[in-house]
Amino acid sequence: MITRRFGRTEIDMPVLTCGGMRYQKAWSNDAEIDAEAQENLETTVRRGLEMGARHIETARGYGTSEMQLGRFLPSIPRDQFILQTKISPKYNKIEFLSEFDKSMRLLGMDYVDLLGIHGLNNEETWKMTVERGSLEAAQELKKQGRVRHIGFSTHGPTELIARACATGEFDYVNLHWYYIFQNNAPALIEAARQDMGVLIISPNDKGGKLYEPTEKLVDLCAPLSPMRFNALFCLARPGVHTLSIGVAKPSDWDEHLGTLERVDHAQTLTEPIVQRLDQAMADAVGAEWVRHWSEDLPLWQETPGEINLHTIIWLWNLAKAFDMTEYGAMRYNLLGNGGHWFAGQNAAKLAEGQVTEEEILRALNGYRFADRVIPILREAHDLMAGEEKKRLSQSES
Ligand SMILES: NC(=O)c1ccc[n+]([C@@H]2O[C@H](COP(=O)([O-])OP(=O)(O)OC[C@H]3O[C@@H](n4cnc5c(N)ncnc54)[C@H](OP(=O)(O)O)[C@@H]3O)[C@@H](O)[C@H]2O)c1
Repeated sequence: MITRRFGRTEIDMPVLTCGGMRYQKAWSNDAEIDAEAQENLETTVRRGLEMGARHIETARGYGTSEMQLGRFLPSIPRDQFILQTKISPKYNKIEFLSEFDKSMRLLGMDYVDLLGIHGLNNEETWKMTVERGSLEAAQELKKQGRVRHIGFSTHGPTELIARACATGEFDYVNLHWYYIFQNNAPALIEAARQDMGVLIISPNDKGGKLYEPTEKLVDLCAPLSPMRFNALFCLARPGVHTLSIGVAKPSDWDEHLGTLERVDHAQTLTEPIVQRLDQAMADAVGAEWVRHWSEDLPLWQETPGEINLHTIIWLWNLAKAFDMTEYGAMRYNLLGNGGHWFAGQNAAKLAEGQVTEEEILRALNGYRFADRVIPILREAHDLMAGEEKKRLSQSES
């Protein structure tokens, strides 16, 4: 396994992390764990350990994941794995500390190497973290030796992520950054400035449903598979230290072995593919548009019906350039149900006439491509609208 220094934690971090939210039996905490489900989880994690993917990243919010890990991790010598769990921000310290205690009981551990504030995604979770005691609680746990390093995971806006990194309070960050979504690059720069560890969240699923790639993506990424191209694209950036892989079964690791063999040549292998993908995007929607479409575009909070123009246009670009309508639908239909994890609404309100074209055009005041927005919103809705999607953690409720 190839490892990288995980920033100021000085942890020798494997470039592939064993994600903890796909092999658990259930998202609800009280589910019965049958032997087969437990067996699948243990063999999947053990396969990772054998490969050297010894960083296990779970969360209190991942249902039975902690409990099931706690059924066998205590039997493995503690120095053979790096354990991360995550607790979502709370309105008071006591609540945060009791959630942490619960995690330690379920994991059968007396300390974790990494504790992440799970979901620093907007101003409210920011306040809960830095003003209402969640960070203070984590720092107390660090003083007690029950937590070795503190970080945060985020689906928030780039400005918020960079602001959190710039506080200097966090040793690492889990964030989204991969080929189809590079907006968080300024946050990566701030994280590097703070010598923080960087983990990439969901490179294969949120990174483009790359396990079911479109034919166009397969052709453009050849000779690499889209999953391997994307992994190498991420690891070609020095400030990226590990990718969290959502393995659901032991065989899911196979594809990623191929990535490991090529990490040392990540830059040269991915460069020509990046050029092809960028060219395909420019050919599909126009080079000028690609360079400038997101400038001066109102945020969802500033748009009638809270329609998230940035996300919808980003998905429309991917559909036009790479035929990624299935991925688009997965994300488009989560808008409106994602809370602060995936904020804003899709264009249903325009399609249903609750919001008028005039209202949106007024909000676009001064936006250079105003004439293209309404047709794009309507086409995006036609292409991607479907059954409402829920967040995985809500999927069983
Ligand atoms: N906010 C946060 O902190 C946050 C948010 C999201 C994720 N995460 C962390 O990031 C980890 C990775 O995200 P993710 O679970 O979305 O992982 P991912 O690796 O991006 O995607 C995993 C999904 O891809 C599918 N898949 C198919 N073949 C695969 C293969 N060879 N390898 C991997 N996946 C394959 C799996 O589907 P099948 O189930 O059909 O096999 C699985 O559902 C999570 O486990 C979690 O620990 C954190």
